[in-house]
Amino acid sequence: MNKDIFEVSDYITREKREKLHKHLGCLVWITGFSASGKSSIAKNLEKKLYAKSCISYALDGDNVRRALCKDLGFSKKDRAENIRRIGEAGKLFVNAGIIVIAAFISPYKEDRKKVSVLVGKDRFIEVFADCPLEVCIKRDPKGIYKRAIAGKVKDFTGIDAVYEKPHNPTIHIKTDSVSIDKAGSVIFKYLTDNGYINF
Ligand code: ADX
Repeated sequence: MNKDIFEVSDYITREKREKLHKHLGCLVWITGFSASGKSSIAKNLEKKLYAKSCISYALDGDNVRRALCKDLGFSKKDRAENIRRIGEAGKLFVNAGIIVIAAFISPYKEDRKKVSVLVGKDRFIEVFADCPLEVCIKRDPKGIYKRAIAGKVKDFTGIDAVYEKPHNPTIHIKTDSVSIDKAGSVIFKYLTDNGYINF
């Protein structure tokens, strides 16, 4: 760190903002294969939170990769940098007292762990969108698995790049058998039961 760069303290602290919003800031991190339902769950959860006047914002793999991380590819190193940037961006939102919903494949345990340490364990809720690869391949809404299997997309998660499952996620949802709406409700209930949201 450059010694000529100084930290500026907040006047409006996270605690003050949380009081204003009437809920805590936290990072709901949804990990899983492409087509496992991450983005749909994120959208559903946002709807539920909005309906209850909670301030939330969803960060999504495809959108972030078209802008903030458009210089990155899918090597292990680039994915680590992708997740690091999202973690840092997520932390800013959490400090602003916002419920952040991040939907990223984030295939490496180590990268996810770093985000949880960065944001703070009590502010990090890991959700595993657990869908068998065969089901994701069948769904293939973007036709990208088909192209990856044909060798036209390199380092594709589940095809020729690894996915390290979380062994002890905060919330584990079998997205091949649970509806998107139910998945959103499960996360919403967790936030309520654990004091992130108070009604
Ligand atoms: S991550 O592994 O770094 O977390 P991220 O969630 O940001 O990935 O981006 C995943 C999206 O990028 C997928 O939904 C898919 O549309 C697209 N994509 C393009 N190439 C790849 C690839 N090689 N592996 C995985 N996803 C890819």
